[in-house]
Amino acid sequence: MSGKVNFLELHNGRKMPIIGLGTWEVQILSKDEVDDKELVNAIDAALEIGYRHIDTAYLYCTEKAIGKVLKKWTSSGKIKREDLFITTKLPSWAMKPEKVEKYLKESLAALQLSYVDLYLLHHAVGLVEIDGDNVEAYHKYPTPDVTTDHVSVWKAMEAQVDAGRALSIGLSNFNARQVKRIVNSARIKPANLQVEAQLYCQQKELAAFCKALDITVCAFGPIGSPALSTTGANVPNLSPLADPVVSEIAKKYNRTPAQILLRHLIQHGIAVIPKSSNPKRLKENFQVLDFELKEDDIDRLDALDKGGKGRIFTENVMKGYVGHPENPFVDRY
Ligand SMILES: NC(=O)c1ccc[n+]([C@@H]2O[C@H](COP(=O)([O-])OP(=O)(O)OC[C@H]3O[C@@H](n4cnc5c(N)ncnc54)[C@H](OP(=O)(O)O)[C@@H]3O)[C@@H](O)[C@H]2O)c1
Repeated sequence: MSGKVNFLELHNGRKMPIIGLGTWEVQILSKDEVDDKELVNAIDAALEIGYRHIDTAYLYCTEKAIGKVLKKWTSSGKIKREDLFITTKLPSWAMKPEKVEKYLKESLAALQLSYVDLYLLHHAVGLVEIDGDNVEAYHKYPTPDVTTDHVSVWKAMEAQVDAGRALSIGLSNFNARQVKRIVNSARIKPANLQVEAQLYCQQKELAAFCKALDITVCAFGPIGSPALSTTGANVPNLSPLADPVVSEIAKKYNRTPAQILLRHLIQHGIAVIPKSSNPKRLKENFQVLDFELKEDDIDRLDALDKGGKGRIFTENVMKGYVGHPENPFVDRY
Protein backbone atom coordinates (compact mmCIF):
# COMPACT_ATOMS: atom_id res chain seq x y z
CA MET A 1 0.00 0.00 0.00
CA SER A 2 1.56 3.29 -1.09
CA GLY A 3 2.33 6.21 1.21
CA LYS A 4 -0.35 8.30 -0.47
CA VAL A 5 -3.45 6.20 0.23
CA ASN A 6 -5.76 8.40 2.29
CA PHE A 7 -9.01 6.46 1.96
CA LEU A 8 -10.35 2.95 2.02
CA GLU A 9 -12.97 2.37 -0.64
CA LEU A 10 -16.08 0.64 0.68
CA HIS A 11 -17.90 -1.93 -1.46
CA ASN A 12 -20.59 0.64 -2.29
CA GLY A 13 -18.01 3.08 -3.69
CA ARG A 14 -18.04 5.38 -0.65
CA LYS A 15 -14.71 6.39 0.84
CA MET A 16 -13.60 6.10 4.46
CA PRO A 17 -10.59 8.24 5.44
CA ILE A 18 -7.92 5.78 6.56
CA ILE A 19 -7.17 7.88 9.63
CA GLY A 20 -9.92 8.99 11.96
CA LEU A 21 -10.41 10.27 15.46
CA GLY A 22 -11.43 7.93 18.28
CA THR A 23 -13.62 9.55 20.92
CA TRP A 24 -14.01 6.93 23.63
CA GLU A 25 -13.05 8.40 27.00
CA VAL A 26 -12.27 5.40 29.18
CA GLN A 27 -13.23 7.33 32.30
CA ILE A 28 -16.86 7.83 31.25
CA LEU A 29 -18.92 5.19 32.97
CA SER A 30 -22.31 6.86 32.95
CA LYS A 31 -24.23 9.46 30.97
CA ASP A 32 -23.75 12.09 33.73
CA GLU A 33 -19.96 12.11 33.64
CA VAL A 34 -19.25 13.68 30.25
CA ASP A 35 -16.80 16.56 30.41
CA ASP A 36 -18.15 18.46 27.46
CA LYS A 37 -15.49 21.17 27.36
CA GLU A 38 -12.48 18.88 27.03
CA LEU A 39 -14.20 16.87 24.31
CA VAL A 40 -15.38 19.92 22.38
CA ASN A 41 -11.84 21.34 22.43
CA ALA A 42 -10.33 18.05 21.24
CA ILE A 43 -12.78 17.65 18.36
CA ASP A 44 -12.33 21.27 17.38
CA ALA A 45 -8.55 20.84 17.38
CA ALA A 46 -8.83 17.62 15.37
CA LEU A 47 -10.90 19.28 12.65
CA GLU A 48 -8.38 22.15 12.50
CA ILE A 49 -5.59 19.62 12.01
CA GLY A 50 -7.49 17.99 9.15
CA TYR A 51 -9.28 14.97 10.64
CA ARG A 52 -12.51 14.33 8.73
CA HIS A 53 -13.36 10.88 10.06
CA ILE A 54 -14.76 10.67 13.59
CA ASP A 55 -15.62 7.47 15.42
CA THR A 56 -18.17 7.50 18.20
CA ALA A 57 -20.88 5.28 19.69
CA TYR A 58 -24.06 5.70 21.68
CA LEU A 59 -22.18 4.05 24.55
CA TYR A 60 -19.39 6.66 24.63
CA CYS A 61 -21.71 9.59 25.48
CA THR A 62 -19.59 11.74 23.16
CA GLU A 63 -22.12 12.19 20.36
CA LYS A 64 -23.56 15.40 21.81
CA ALA A 65 -20.18 17.13 22.05
CA ILE A 66 -19.28 15.99 18.53
CA GLY A 67 -22.64 17.28 17.28
CA LYS A 68 -21.98 20.69 18.81
CA VAL A 69 -18.65 21.05 17.03
CA LEU A 70 -19.91 19.67 13.71
CA LYS A 71 -22.84 22.08 13.76
CA LYS A 72 -20.50 24.99 14.35
CA TRP A 73 -18.21 23.97 11.50
CA THR A 74 -20.93 23.12 8.97
CA SER A 75 -23.18 26.08 9.65
CA SER A 76 -20.30 28.53 9.35
CA GLY A 77 -19.42 26.96 5.99
CA LYS A 78 -15.94 25.99 7.25
CA ILE A 79 -16.62 22.40 6.34
CA LYS A 80 -19.17 20.58 4.16
CA ARG A 81 -21.16 17.69 5.58
CA GLU A 82 -20.19 15.54 2.59
CA ASP A 83 -16.50 15.96 3.43
CA LEU A 84 -17.00 14.31 6.83
CA PHE A 85 -17.13 10.61 7.65
CA ILE A 86 -19.03 9.99 10.87
CA THR A 87 -19.37 6.54 12.41
CA THR A 88 -21.55 5.61 15.35
CA LYS A 89 -22.75 2.33 16.83
CA LEU A 90 -25.85 0.56 18.08
CA PRO A 91 -25.30 -0.30 21.76
CA SER A 92 -25.25 -3.91 22.83
CA TRP A 93 -28.38 -3.52 24.98
CA ALA A 94 -30.31 -2.56 21.82
CA MET A 95 -29.50 -5.64 19.73
CA LYS A 96 -33.15 -6.17 18.79
CA PRO A 97 -34.65 -5.35 15.37
CA GLU A 98 -37.34 -3.10 16.85
CA LYS A 99 -34.74 -0.96 18.67
CA VAL A 100 -32.40 -0.13 15.80
CA GLU A 101 -34.32 2.79 14.33
CA LYS A 102 -35.03 4.35 17.75
CA TYR A 103 -31.36 4.26 18.81
CA LEU A 104 -30.05 5.50 15.47
CA LYS A 105 -32.51 8.39 15.58
CA GLU A 106 -31.28 9.26 19.10
CA SER A 107 -27.67 9.19 17.89
CA LEU A 108 -28.53 11.39 14.91
CA ALA A 109 -30.32 13.88 17.16
CA ALA A 110 -27.29 14.08 19.47
CA LEU A 111 -24.93 14.43 16.51
CA GLN A 112 -27.26 17.02 14.92
CA LEU A 113 -27.04 15.10 11.65
CA SER A 114 -29.62 13.69 9.25
CA TYR A 115 -27.42 10.67 8.42
CA VAL A 116 -24.25 8.93 9.52
CA ASP A 117 -21.69 7.64 7.08
CA LEU A 118 -21.38 4.33 8.87
CA TYR A 119 -23.59 2.64 11.45
CA LEU A 120 -22.13 -0.38 13.22
CA LEU A 121 -23.47 -3.09 15.48
CA HIS A 122 -21.16 -2.35 18.42
CA HIS A 123 -20.96 -5.93 19.71
CA ALA A 124 -21.95 -9.40 18.61
CA VAL A 125 -22.97 -9.97 22.23
CA GLY A 126 -26.36 -8.56 23.19
CA LEU A 127 -27.28 -7.33 26.67
CA VAL A 128 -30.61 -6.85 28.37
CA GLU A 129 -31.89 -3.26 28.22
CA ILE A 130 -32.83 -1.85 31.61
CA ASP A 131 -35.25 0.88 32.56
CA GLY A 132 -32.62 3.46 33.63
CA ASP A 133 -29.04 4.47 32.73
CA ASN A 134 -28.00 1.71 30.34
CA VAL A 135 -24.49 3.15 30.03
CA GLU A 136 -23.95 2.71 33.75
CA ALA A 137 -25.59 -0.73 33.64
CA TYR A 138 -23.27 -1.72 30.77
CA HIS A 139 -20.19 -0.90 32.84
CA LYS A 140 -21.32 -1.98 36.28
CA TYR A 141 -23.88 -4.79 35.96
CA PRO A 142 -24.21 -5.97 32.35
CA THR A 143 -26.83 -8.71 31.90
CA PRO A 144 -26.26 -10.92 28.86
CA ASP A 145 -29.23 -11.39 26.54
CA VAL A 146 -28.70 -14.89 25.17
CA THR A 147 -31.47 -14.50 22.57
CA THR A 148 -29.28 -12.23 20.37
CA ASP A 149 -30.21 -12.84 16.72
CA HIS A 150 -27.79 -11.12 14.35
CA VAL A 151 -29.70 -11.88 11.16
CA SER A 152 -32.92 -10.19 12.28
CA VAL A 153 -31.03 -7.17 13.67
CA TRP A 154 -29.16 -6.86 10.39
CA LYS A 155 -32.45 -6.58 8.46
CA ALA A 156 -33.31 -3.56 10.63
CA MET A 157 -29.83 -2.14 9.87
CA GLU A 158 -30.53 -2.49 6.13
CA ALA A 159 -33.78 -0.58 6.62
CA GLN A 160 -31.72 2.34 7.97
CA VAL A 161 -29.81 2.50 4.68
CA ASP A 162 -33.10 2.39 2.76
CA ALA A 163 -34.38 5.27 4.91
CA GLY A 164 -31.21 7.32 4.29
CA ARG A 165 -30.22 7.47 7.95
CA ALA A 166 -26.98 5.51 7.32
CA LEU A 167 -25.00 5.56 4.10
CA SER A 168 -23.17 2.34 4.98
CA ILE A 169 -23.60 -0.29 7.69
CA GLY A 170 -21.13 -2.60 9.35
CA LEU A 171 -20.05 -4.63 12.35
CA SER A 172 -17.77 -4.38 15.32
CA ASN A 173 -16.32 -7.13 17.52
CA PHE A 174 -17.68 -9.92 15.30
CA ASN A 175 -15.58 -12.97 14.43
CA ALA A 176 -15.24 -14.42 10.90
CA ARG A 177 -18.02 -16.97 11.40
CA GLN A 178 -20.40 -14.26 12.61
CA VAL A 179 -19.49 -11.95 9.72
CA LYS A 180 -20.11 -14.79 7.24
CA ARG A 181 -23.53 -15.56 8.70
CA ILE A 182 -24.59 -11.95 8.11
CA VAL A 183 -23.07 -11.86 4.63
CA ASN A 184 -24.93 -15.05 3.68
CA SER A 185 -28.33 -13.57 4.50
CA ALA A 186 -27.67 -9.89 3.73
CA ARG A 187 -29.34 -7.79 1.08
CA ILE A 188 -26.82 -5.03 1.92
CA LYS A 189 -23.40 -6.42 2.81
CA PRO A 190 -21.43 -5.02 5.78
CA ALA A 191 -19.04 -2.36 4.49
CA ASN A 192 -16.66 -2.40 7.44
CA LEU A 193 -15.60 -4.45 10.44
CA GLN A 194 -14.18 -2.57 13.42
CA VAL A 195 -12.07 -4.71 15.75
CA GLU A 196 -9.14 -4.32 18.09
CA ALA A 197 -5.98 -4.35 15.99
CA GLN A 198 -2.57 -3.37 17.27
CA LEU A 199 1.02 -4.60 17.25
CA TYR A 200 0.40 -7.65 19.46
CA CYS A 201 -3.02 -8.56 18.05
CA GLN A 202 -2.69 -7.79 14.36
CA GLN A 203 -5.83 -9.62 13.15
CA LYS A 204 -4.06 -10.95 10.05
CA GLU A 205 -6.45 -13.87 9.47
CA LEU A 206 -9.58 -11.83 10.10
CA ALA A 207 -8.34 -9.01 7.84
CA ALA A 208 -7.57 -11.48 5.02
CA PHE A 209 -11.00 -13.05 5.48
CA CYS A 210 -12.67 -9.62 5.25
CA LYS A 211 -10.59 -8.62 2.24
CA ALA A 212 -11.82 -11.68 0.35
CA LEU A 213 -15.39 -10.52 1.03
CA ASP A 214 -14.62 -6.89 0.10
CA ILE A 215 -15.23 -5.75 3.68
CA THR A 216 -12.85 -3.07 4.95
CA VAL A 217 -11.30 -3.25 8.43
CA CYS A 218 -10.87 -0.47 10.97
CA ALA A 219 -8.58 -0.85 14.00
CA PHE A 220 -9.67 0.29 17.43
CA GLY A 221 -7.08 0.65 20.18
CA PRO A 222 -4.43 1.01 17.44
CA ILE A 223 -1.73 2.23 19.80
CA GLY A 224 -2.73 -0.17 22.55
CA SER A 225 -5.29 1.94 24.47
CA PRO A 226 -2.76 2.87 27.20
CA ALA A 227 -5.41 4.60 29.36
CA LEU A 228 -7.29 1.34 29.84
CA SER A 229 -4.78 0.04 32.39
CA THR A 230 -5.12 3.24 34.46
CA THR A 231 -8.81 2.54 35.17
CA GLY A 232 -8.13 -0.46 37.38
CA ALA A 233 -9.54 -2.74 34.65
CA ASN A 234 -7.94 -6.17 34.65
CA VAL A 235 -6.06 -5.90 31.35
CA PRO A 236 -2.92 -7.72 30.16
CA ASN A 237 0.37 -5.96 30.72
CA LEU A 238 1.01 -5.18 27.05
CA SER A 239 2.28 -1.85 25.84
CA PRO A 240 2.86 -1.58 22.08
CA LEU A 241 4.07 2.03 22.55
CA ALA A 242 6.92 0.79 24.75
CA ASP A 243 8.02 -2.10 22.56
CA PRO A 244 11.81 -1.90 21.94
CA VAL A 245 11.49 -2.86 18.26
CA VAL A 246 8.97 -0.05 17.77
CA SER A 247 11.31 2.42 19.52
CA GLU A 248 14.21 1.32 17.35
CA ILE A 249 12.20 1.70 14.12
CA ALA A 250 10.84 5.06 15.33
CA LYS A 251 14.42 6.34 15.78
CA LYS A 252 15.40 5.10 12.34
CA TYR A 253 12.55 7.02 10.63
CA ASN A 254 12.74 9.98 13.00
CA ARG A 255 9.10 9.38 14.00
CA THR A 256 7.36 8.59 17.27
CA PRO A 257 6.37 5.07 18.41
CA ALA A 258 2.68 5.96 17.95
CA GLN A 259 3.33 6.97 14.35
CA ILE A 260 5.11 3.68 13.64
CA LEU A 261 2.23 1.67 15.16
CA LEU A 262 -0.37 3.57 13.12
CA ARG A 263 1.65 3.46 9.91
CA HIS A 264 2.14 -0.31 10.28
CA LEU A 265 -1.64 -0.89 10.32
CA ILE A 266 -2.24 1.57 7.48
CA GLN A 267 0.31 -0.19 5.28
CA HIS A 268 -1.69 -3.38 5.84
CA GLY A 269 -4.75 -1.58 4.46
CA ILE A 270 -6.41 -1.14 7.86
CA ALA A 271 -8.02 2.17 8.87
CA VAL A 272 -7.02 3.57 12.30
CA ILE A 273 -8.95 5.70 14.78
CA PRO A 274 -6.51 6.72 17.56
CA LYS A 275 -8.06 8.74 20.36
CA SER A 276 -6.40 11.80 21.83
CA SER A 277 -7.57 14.90 23.66
CA ASN A 278 -4.13 16.46 23.41
CA PRO A 279 -3.54 18.81 20.43
CA LYS A 280 0.12 17.81 20.11
CA ARG A 281 -0.68 14.10 20.02
CA LEU A 282 -3.67 14.68 17.72
CA LYS A 283 -1.27 16.25 15.24
CA GLU A 284 1.35 13.55 15.71
CA ASN A 285 -1.20 10.78 15.10
CA PHE A 286 -2.48 12.47 11.94
CA GLN A 287 0.99 12.78 10.42
CA VAL A 288 1.29 9.21 9.26
CA LEU A 289 0.51 9.55 5.58
CA ASP A 290 3.75 11.21 4.48
CA PHE A 291 6.17 8.35 5.03
CA GLU A 292 6.40 4.66 4.29
CA LEU A 293 7.84 1.76 6.27
CA LYS A 294 10.20 -0.45 4.32
CA GLU A 295 9.41 -4.12 3.76
CA ASP A 296 11.99 -5.43 6.28
CA ASP A 297 10.69 -3.13 9.02
CA ILE A 298 7.12 -4.24 8.29
CA ASP A 299 8.35 -7.84 8.61
CA ARG A 300 9.91 -7.10 12.02
CA LEU A 301 6.66 -5.55 13.25
CA ASP A 302 4.59 -8.38 11.76
CA ALA A 303 6.70 -10.86 13.72
CA LEU A 304 5.57 -9.34 17.05
CA ASP A 305 1.97 -10.52 16.55
CA LYS A 306 0.70 -12.77 19.36
CA GLY A 307 -2.69 -13.41 17.77
CA GLY A 308 -5.58 -13.72 20.26
CA LYS A 309 -3.08 -13.81 23.15
CA GLY A 310 -2.12 -10.23 22.29
CA ARG A 311 -5.62 -8.89 22.89
CA ILE A 312 -5.80 -5.96 25.31
CA PHE A 313 -9.61 -5.78 25.10
CA THR A 314 -10.17 -9.21 26.63
CA GLU A 315 -13.39 -10.60 28.08
CA ASN A 316 -12.50 -8.68 31.27
CA VAL A 317 -13.20 -5.45 29.42
CA MET A 318 -15.86 -6.56 26.93
CA LYS A 319 -19.08 -6.66 28.89
CA GLY A 320 -21.30 -9.73 28.95
CA TYR A 321 -19.00 -11.84 26.73
CA VAL A 322 -18.23 -14.67 29.15
CA GLY A 323 -20.64 -17.55 28.61
CA HIS A 324 -22.65 -15.69 25.94
CA PRO A 325 -23.48 -17.91 22.91
CA GLU A 326 -22.25 -15.12 20.60
CA ASN A 327 -18.93 -14.49 22.40
CA PRO A 328 -16.70 -13.79 19.34
CA PHE A 329 -13.52 -14.74 21.18
CA VAL A 330 -14.33 -18.46 21.32
CA ASP A 331 -13.10 -18.80 17.72
CA ARG A 332 -9.45 -18.19 16.83
CA TYR A 333 -10.50 -15.29 14.58
N1 LIG B 1 -15.71 -0.92 18.68
C1 LIG B 1 -15.26 -1.04 19.90
O1 LIG B 1 -15.67 -1.92 20.69
C2 LIG B 1 -14.22 -0.07 20.39
C3 LIG B 1 -13.50 -0.36 21.57
C4 LIG B 1 -12.55 0.56 21.97
C5 LIG B 1 -12.31 1.69 21.24
N2 LIG B 1 -13.04 1.97 20.11
C6 LIG B 1 -12.80 3.19 19.31
O2 LIG B 1 -11.43 3.22 18.95
C7 LIG B 1 -10.83 4.43 19.42
C8 LIG B 1 -9.38 4.22 19.74
O3 LIG B 1 -9.20 3.25 20.76
P1 LIG B 1 -8.77 3.65 22.24
O4 LIG B 1 -9.19 5.04 22.51
O5 LIG B 1 -9.21 2.59 23.14
O6 LIG B 1 -7.19 3.50 22.21
P2 LIG B 1 -5.97 4.18 21.44
O7 LIG B 1 -6.42 5.10 20.41
O8 LIG B 1 -5.06 3.05 21.06
O9 LIG B 1 -5.25 4.96 22.61
C9 LIG B 1 -5.78 6.14 23.14
C10 LIG B 1 -4.96 6.54 24.36
O10 LIG B 1 -3.60 6.76 23.97
C11 LIG B 1 -3.19 8.10 24.31
N3 LIG B 1 -2.47 8.60 23.13
C12 LIG B 1 -3.02 9.06 21.98
N4 LIG B 1 -2.07 9.41 21.10
C13 LIG B 1 -0.89 9.16 21.70
C14 LIG B 1 0.45 9.31 21.27
N5 LIG B 1 0.75 9.78 20.08
N6 LIG B 1 1.43 8.95 22.15
C15 LIG B 1 1.13 8.47 23.38
N7 LIG B 1 -0.13 8.30 23.84
C16 LIG B 1 -1.14 8.65 23.00
C17 LIG B 1 -4.45 8.86 24.59
O11 LIG B 1 -4.25 9.82 25.60
P3 LIG B 1 -4.48 11.41 25.34
O12 LIG B 1 -5.93 11.58 25.02
O13 LIG B 1 -4.08 12.02 26.63
O14 LIG B 1 -3.58 11.77 24.20
C18 LIG B 1 -5.42 7.79 25.06
O15 LIG B 1 -5.27 7.56 26.43
C19 LIG B 1 -11.71 4.79 20.63
O16 LIG B 1 -11.51 6.11 21.06
C20 LIG B 1 -13.07 4.49 20.07
O17 LIG B 1 -13.50 5.53 19.21
C21 LIG B 1 -13.96 1.08 19.67
